[in-house]
Amino acid sequence: MRISDSNLLAAIAALGVEHKADVSLAQKTSLEIGGTSDVLLIHKHESLPGLIQLLKDNQVPHRFLGGGSNVLLPDGELPWVVLQLARQDPEVRFEGNNVFVDCAADLGRTVTTCAKHDLGGLEGLIGVPGSIGGALRMNAGAYGTQIGTYVREVKIYRAATGQIETLRGSEINFEYRHTSFAPDDIMLTVRLELPSKSYSEILQGIRICNEKRRASQPLNQKSAGCIFKNPPGGSAGRMIDELGLKGHSVGDARVSDRHANFFINAGHATQSDMLALIADVRRRVHERYGIELEEEVIVWKEQ
Ligand code: EPU
Repeated sequence: MRISDSNLLAAIAALGVEHKADVSLAQKTSLEIGGTSDVLLIHKHESLPGLIQLLKDNQVPHRFLGGGSNVLLPDGELPWVVLQLARQDPEVRFEGNNVFVDCAADLGRTVTTCAKHDLGGLEGLIGVPGSIGGALRMNAGAYGTQIGTYVREVKIYRAATGQIETLRGSEINFEYRHTSFAPDDIMLTVRLELPSKSYSEILQGIRICNEKRRASQPLNQKSAGCIFKNPPGGSAGRMIDELGLKGHSVGDARVSDRHANFFINAGHATQSDMLALIADVRRRVHERYGIELEEEVIVWKEQ
């Protein structure tokens, strides 16, 4: 969506929000699928309540994009303006075992920054792509680590009140790839409490996780990580593999040869290629195993 109303553009600028016209969103997502839209880059968290009110008053539909690593966007011109948080400086601040992290920060970089301060616990998350905010929203996890374990406080823009609020960790439900945040809440800053560990011990853990990941996941291809959540007690990847679906494709959307729960953009896949592949695999898994797989990837669709 384009914003062309000059009064609205002036009001957006007056809030300190940067307007970027006609941005290619494929370049902002790890799947490299997505059309174009205007992007509003938020430099100061405090401008969010005013900005969202302004967009509502002017009936401008909007969506918030985090690190872009777990999302499937439509092609063509999107029917929403896209909001994004600009990176803050510094991104990470330390107070003893407490770490205050800006939610636009990259997850992997945060893990290594904490390691350099002898703070561990997050080693399992090292190769998970995306931002701290996205990791929080999904309660990202790998190799026995889930970020929710370490969350003590989160500053969010709360859609229900239109205000910036601080939630205690105990007020938030962190479940397997699911949290109690509302879909239109926006994560701003998080306080994590991390266990002390020596840098060399953390590096050793990071190396082991990196090796496991390299051996089992298609890291240098365009994907959104696992496309489905694992069903309770099961493995979506193993079931899809057992069905012989590695390499199965719709257009340029393809089931990875390396890990069957990773769906790859092998060229110029569109959202509809990927959705057709997801639907086809889900149907086949249901037919064989009687299990309805749930998407882990967040799909932006017009309701
Ligand atoms: N398997 C196969 N074929 C495959 C893939 C897996 O037989 O193509 C088998 C493996 O051999 C293993 C089992 O399935 O016995 C489980 O596989 P894996 O260890 O790769 O873990 P996963 O359950 O497929 C989960 C997370 C990953 C996370 C890894 C490591 C989900 C949906 N996936 O994968 O997270 O990196 O464990 O902890 O929970 C993500 O969330 O995007 C993601 C990639």
